[in-house]
Amino acid sequence: MQGTREEFSSRLGFLLAATGSAVGLGNVWGFPTNTASNGGAAFVAVYFILAFGLAYPALMAELVIGRHTRANIYSALQQITPPGIGQRLAGLTGLYAILVASAVLMFYTLVAGWVIAHLLAAAFAIVGLTGPAQWFSAGSLMRDLFCAGIFALLTIVVVSQGVHRGIERWSTRLLPALLVLSLALTAYVLFQPGAMAGLALYLVPDFSRILEPQLLVSAMGQAFFSLSLGVGTMLIYGSYLRQDENLPTIGALVTVVDALVAFLAGLLILPAMFVAQDLGISIYSGEDLIAGPDLIFQVLPTLFSSMGLAGIVVALAFFTLLAIAALTSSISMLEVPVALAVEKTPVSRSGACWLIGGVIFLGTVLLTVKFEALFGLVVTMTTEYSQPLLGIALCLFAGWVLNRNQLLKEIRSGYPDAENSLFWKIWPFYVRFVCPSLIAATFIQSVIL
Ligand code: PHE
Repeated sequence: MQGTREEFSSRLGFLLAATGSAVGLGNVWGFPTNTASNGGAAFVAVYFILAFGLAYPALMAELVIGRHTRANIYSALQQITPPGIGQRLAGLTGLYAILVASAVLMFYTLVAGWVIAHLLAAAFAIVGLTGPAQWFSAGSLMRDLFCAGIFALLTIVVVSQGVHRGIERWSTRLLPALLVLSLALTAYVLFQPGAMAGLALYLVPDFSRILEPQLLVSAMGQAFFSLSLGVGTMLIYGSYLRQDENLPTIGALVTVVDALVAFLAGLLILPAMFVAQDLGISIYSGEDLIAGPDLIFQVLPTLFSSMGLAGIVVALAFFTLLAIAALTSSISMLEVPVALAVEKTPVSRSGACWLIGGVIFLGTVLLTVKFEALFGLVVTMTTEYSQPLLGIALCLFAGWVLNRNQLLKEIRSGYPDAENSLFWKIWPFYVRFVCPSLIAATFIQSVIL
């Protein structure tokens, strides 16, 4: 297996793939939504502190373990742990992460299906086919299943093409498109009447809210989800990284771009809400700004349709942007179980993709049909509980199971002067003690709340 293992062909290729994984519905939907429900700029400030102070060190843990072991998360954790009960626990932790990645993909596919539906609605509206346009914009079970199916197919097809021809090639095409589209849209929205009120809410912090426990918990969950942490995605991408890449720099770049895109999405969505309000659309439910699916799938479409033809074009651009962001993330989720299957069994990559992708899609179907009972539950169990817990576990594996020499050797590869760097002075201690305790403290708070 070792000799034939694929790698990202260039630093840029990895960067685009890893940022593509990080930048997703979490940035364009989750971040603005969380900002809206947590008092605007106060949330933004805390988010940035946590993204760099907590999520970046945890991301480094995954990248280091991944490149060190060159394996999927299950084999990787077993490989670094000495035989015995510890090794069994390591295997279980790996399997749990793979399950969580698959469960995230189940609900992600459903939400991405809504995105595809609105995209197709806008596309049909532009060519004047009002019948199909209406079918795709009005929610129905058939529509949801059909569109989620399209998205699942796209994900499977890309991943089955492999790391280089599939994941890297598609991320390299899609991520720049996403950046250009979001800049253009933001510029457009900021010049519409009403936008400034949204901008003020977004950028002027109400410091009295900064220490609210709910705000901290949401910001941490958001940071972990947004950087694709805890589920083995970054670990497997790290395992495809070349030996001559500088891990701390690469991890920092991914974190910065992810945070910037989230920030940019906020610059788009919050002003857009107030533009909508200016047009008479209600953007509050009770005291709070509308958040959650309603924000993206009701407020914004109503805004777009009140803007005439320009609105349809803007809608098409916006939902294309969301679909791209979702696809570069979903492929990184599917890669997690697929890598396990390919490395541990004789199955071919494409066989594994169709089989595993198919089973995960059945999960999506179940979530769609039993939406009320299951959707919120799965989202909470995976993103709020499992991701931070697995984040703690991965920090502990990097900090306590790998020893300092192994860590240094891995980081030195691609960064010969690592030993004298600020990173090396802080990170090993940080990932051993500070990260796990901070995540645990925030997590416990969230359970008590
Ligand atoms: N980071 C992605 C987003 O922001 C979601 C994701 C989570 C991707 C876990 C991979 C693994 O949408």
